[in-house]
Amino acid sequence: MNDYPIITPSEQQARDYAAITTQAFGGSLDESIEWVFDLGLPGVRVALADGQVAAGLKAHDMAHYFLGRRVATWGIGGVAVAPHHRNLGLACQLMVDTLRDARSKGIAVSSLYPATQKLYRKVGYERAGVHSKWKLNIPAIALEQTPGNAIPLTEDHLPTIKQLYTQQAKKHHGWLDRPDHFWTHRIRLDIDFGYLILIDDQPAGYIVFKPCKQGVNELWIQQWCVTSPDAARLSLQLIAQHRSINQTAYWYGTPDEWAPWLLPNDTPELQYQEDWMLRIVDIDAALTQRGYPPITAEFHLDLTDDILPDNAGRRVLTLRQGKPTVQPGGSGRIALDIRALAPLYTGYLSPQHLRDLDRIAGPHEDLALLAAAFTAPLPAMPDHF
Ligand SMILES: CC(C)(COP(=O)(O)OP(=O)(O)OC[C@H]1O[C@@H](n2cnc3c(N)ncnc32)[C@H](O)[C@@H]1OP(=O)(O)O)[C@@H](O)C(=O)NCCC(=O)NCCS
Repeated sequence: MNDYPIITPSEQQARDYAAITTQAFGGSLDESIEWVFDLGLPGVRVALADGQVAAGLKAHDMAHYFLGRRVATWGIGGVAVAPHHRNLGLACQLMVDTLRDARSKGIAVSSLYPATQKLYRKVGYERAGVHSKWKLNIPAIALEQTPGNAIPLTEDHLPTIKQLYTQQAKKHHGWLDRPDHFWTHRIRLDIDFGYLILIDDQPAGYIVFKPCKQGVNELWIQQWCVTSPDAARLSLQLIAQHRSINQTAYWYGTPDEWAPWLLPNDTPELQYQEDWMLRIVDIDAALTQRGYPPITAEFHLDLTDDILPDNAGRRVLTLRQGKPTVQPGGSGRIALDIRALAPLYTGYLSPQHLRDLDRIAGPHEDLALLAAAFTAPLPAMPDHF
């Protein structure tokens, strides 16, 4: 592998990286610059070739909620290599360097949306959760009187909607504890419009729409978060009020949306489901930060990890009524590599499924207990990054 210095960029280097992302992902250079700078330069890494920016990525400092517990995460996005530097191992080196950096900063896991899985599998990521796109036929929503009020969203409501989101995120396995820049850059009330939903005069949800493009009969729901069936019904009525112009509404969410359960005649269509990937960055932090069912058990793990060797070796994970502790040593009866641990950790794949794939080895009873410890709702998140 060639050696490319990897650094936090200067402003000019960040602009050069933005130009590479424009080549890679499209859009205008101005949009790319705004997008590269949105989380601040300390979150950006670039690789240099002959002193010039040849590649880069963004590392969002955030967390996933797994069974209600906050797990410190770097979400990786915008991995892009200039076309004339591709296929030389540059992206791989950038990822490895970033993972080492994340570990040194106490990060437990890393997640990303892969455009190609091979690169990320090579550095220890595996498919570990889902993200869904929904389509709703607006005329199918029956108009009805629903309790509650909707008031137009203003910047003053941001603390309230963050609170509503966090309340829901803690209850949904896989959702993010969003970094601040997600809020400022993804809810643009100078462009978008939305409503705070009040039930019994109390905030119970919000919905944010993108203004529709002229001549396009599609309504894009930018953000949608409700905390009760009444709030969901009221937001569906707000969607229905667009019916004279918009025939179809779309939004990105998770498989367990409210709308399919509340619409009597025509359910929304799950248009597609995309997998995100996860990597265990610090095994001890990851195992102790996650939530577990209230069981008592002991697991003797033996892990391999070529990229972050401090994760490798034997450990005992002990759960006492779901409270985890991790100690070095043990018999190592359950053997797996760090990549196989990712979907087990999130509950996306059972140990039995991993065993069928030859990705985990261990006595039948241990794997059955492991299944009970890591069982979880389908890991999912509505955010893309
Ligand atoms: C995808 C991309 C980042 C890869 O960068 P790169 O520097 O060429 O990747 P590397 O040379 O480090 O490749 C690492 C491994 O991934 C594989 N790989 C890289 N790009 C691949 C692709 N498009 N499809 C399948 N495998 C790919 C390589 O073959 C290599 O595996 P190997 O060593 O077993 O052969 C680069 O092609 C790019 O910028 N593409 C456009 C933007 C993009 O898709 N970014 C990813 C967003 S998630």
